[in-house]
Amino acid sequence: MNKKIAVLAGDGIGPEVMTETLRVLAVIASKFSHNFEYLQGKIGGQAYDSYQNHCPEETMQICRKADAILFGSVGGPVTEQQQPKWKNCEANSILKLRRHFNLNINIRPIVVYPELSGISPLKSQTIHEGIDCVIFRELTGGIYFGRHEQSIIDKQRQAVDDCIYTEQQIQSILHAAFKAAQSRRKKLCSVDKANVLATSKLWREVSEEISKDYPDVQLTHMLVDNCAMQMVINPQQFDVIVTENMFGDIISDLAAALPGSLGLIPSASLNAHGLGLYEPSGGSAPEIAGKGIANPCAQILSAAWMLKLSFGLAKEAQLIENAVKSTIASGIMTADLHKTSCVSTAKFVDAVITHI
Ligand code: IPM
Ligand code: MG
Repeated sequence: MNKKIAVLAGDGIGPEVMTETLRVLAVIASKFSHNFEYLQGKIGGQAYDSYQNHCPEETMQICRKADAILFGSVGGPVTEQQQPKWKNCEANSILKLRRHFNLNINIRPIVVYPELSGISPLKSQTIHEGIDCVIFRELTGGIYFGRHEQSIIDKQRQAVDDCIYTEQQIQSILHAAFKAAQSRRKKLCSVDKANVLATSKLWREVSEEISKDYPDVQLTHMLVDNCAMQMVINPQQFDVIVTENMFGDIISDLAAALPGSLGLIPSASLNAHGLGLYEPSGGSAPEIAGKGIANPCAQILSAAWMLKLSFGLAKEAQLIENAVKSTIASGIMTADLHKTSCVSTAKFVDAVITHI
């Protein structure tokens, strides 16, 4: 199979975990006789250095030519956020790509394998046989893409962020989530704040209407504050979760803590035409960048999801996922997972490649 992949490594740990991920893809390509062509593009602070733009037209062109986008991470140190290089960096780069390519469906899996439950912050009695849920987050609507304004009224500064949802936007993510639930344990939990918000009331109405097309899936509703609590005290109850943009941002970070590290969670953002952007759920972690200690799992697993969801290469993706899991299960871990006995990013990937 011949595929063009836009590679946007970005800032912080992005370039180092991306380099290691491309080593894994090279092994897969040679083992299965695929030809992956990498189109390297600049994004975030890295792009700002060359173009004074966090997401320049050159990068957009590269993405348009590609069959899928493999994204690293963007953003700089917290103390430097006001410098032009970092100011609004995340919004200018990742939100621009999401909007431009209409990547409205974001998927984040939360898996705690029984053999790795020791690294979860939850007690073993809470985890029991492991956690396996997936979050479907609407990614191009809601408060993220409404009007953001500050003004002065009656000599006071005030600010407004509009949250708007159309029924079409809600239908699209609901269909994707229902379909995923059909191929899993057939439980869909829709998360909203319908006791307060008009957008959530519409969300609930539309999800009930759509559920008629999926009689084999059990649809339940949960308020987002309760969902945050349930995620910690009884995460095993969840199979597929579907929610709007802002709630999905928060719940997915909370859930991502359960496996033990943000460095383990991949993410896929898809549009209706099958284009996908694949990125780690975590950020650029500038404080550990360049030290060779970052956890590459989220980036490697994002690449596996790209193979599976954009290229239909399920067998290759499974091989990568199994190799990552076996590596960790054999006790080889980066510093975020095991403080005292840990290996470098490159050594970890050497072990993943051996398992493949
Ligand atoms: C995420 C991130 C982004 C978001 C930021 C970087 C804009 O937190 O992908 O979850 O809020 O969507
Ligand atoms: Mg987030």
